[in-house]
Amino acid sequence: MSGFQELVFSGVQPTGNLHLGNYLGAIKKFVALQDSNDCIYCVVDLHSLTAQLVHDDLAAQTRSITAAFLASGIDPRKHIVFNQSRVMQHAELAWIFNCVARIGWMNRMTQFKDKAGKDRENASLGLLAYPSLMAADILVYRATHVPVGEDQKQHLELTRDIAQKFNNDFSDRIASLGVGVEMKVGDETVNGFFPITEPVIGGPAARIMSLRDGSKKMSKSDPSDLSRINLTDDADTISKKIKKAKTDPDALPGEVDGLKDRPEAENLVGIYAGLADTTKEKVLAEYGGRQFSEFKPALADLAVEKLAPIAGEMRRISADHAYVDSVLRDGGERAGARAEATMKTVREIIGLLDN
Ligand code: TYM
Repeated sequence: MSGFQELVFSGVQPTGNLHLGNYLGAIKKFVALQDSNDCIYCVVDLHSLTAQLVHDDLAAQTRSITAAFLASGIDPRKHIVFNQSRVMQHAELAWIFNCVARIGWMNRMTQFKDKAGKDRENASLGLLAYPSLMAADILVYRATHVPVGEDQKQHLELTRDIAQKFNNDFSDRIASLGVGVEMKVGDETVNGFFPITEPVIGGPAARIMSLRDGSKKMSKSDPSDLSRINLTDDADTISKKIKKAKTDPDALPGEVDGLKDRPEAENLVGIYAGLADTTKEKVLAEYGGRQFSEFKPALADLAVEKLAPIAGEMRRISADHAYVDSVLRDGGERAGARAEATMKTVREIIGLLDN
């Protein structure tokens, strides 16, 4: 993406326990990307108010997600780790984006429809505007790449739409102030203030499904704890959940095509591939023709080997409030300086008096 400096941004909500889907779909990618990129990783506490305003302990949840980032290997000195509410420019830009985005765009969001359910009139206005705050999180740093699981794809498309509309609506002011950057969008070269962000989605674990029902995504809000592996589960619990995972009676196929219409089998193979940093093809080359009674213990051993050290580190880091808070404070200061630099120009582009 030519003119913009490459920057990775992503966020995780501090609601409920982190699970294997969050880890394989997002956090593991955060860790991989930090080797060759400038990265900002955010605990999005303001987003967590959209579904539930009053939390038992939002601070503890925020620290726990931060501990998961650090325990997984994110380096908070080389990169930035902070909680969203410390940097008020996210909310400021979200307000401006509320005036850029159209209500129709928000109404089409499948996550809004799912979360609001039948009683849409009674959902919070924040839940409807959620994607606008998400766009602000990303664009207040003019981030170019956003690693997420498959379920966030539609929100990232909306982020691109918001950036594009802002760039178009203010194209004259952006040009006269000389603050535009040339970028390639598809085959076209365009000039704009905000980048058209690229989602980083993919690999065998972009959409991890429930262990109890291969048609439902693994989720923090599933009432059955057996449906997910939490990052804090101990070795016995992980093994038990994998043993109890729903499967079908057939042996594993030798090829990926053979996983069609076998969602539970496909999910377990995807989890294995995600944990082992390999592909479904390679997992099937090894386990094709074997029964789940053989595959499940191998998967359980692998999951324990990869996840138990993270759980241990999470417990150790979570207990050290002073350390976690100092990471967030320091990250917040560095993020805030960058966000303010963007907002100064945004205020200028819009014509808000800010002197
Ligand atoms: P959240 O907190 O629901 O989830 C955090 C990350 O985990 C991914 N994920 C999954 N990946 C694979 N399989 C699953 N079953 C699964 N469940 C969750 C999510 O895709 C996500 O990457 N809206 C975001 C938070 C957010 C954000 C942002 C993300 C706010 N602002 C800016 C990126 C950039 C969310 O609710 O994620």
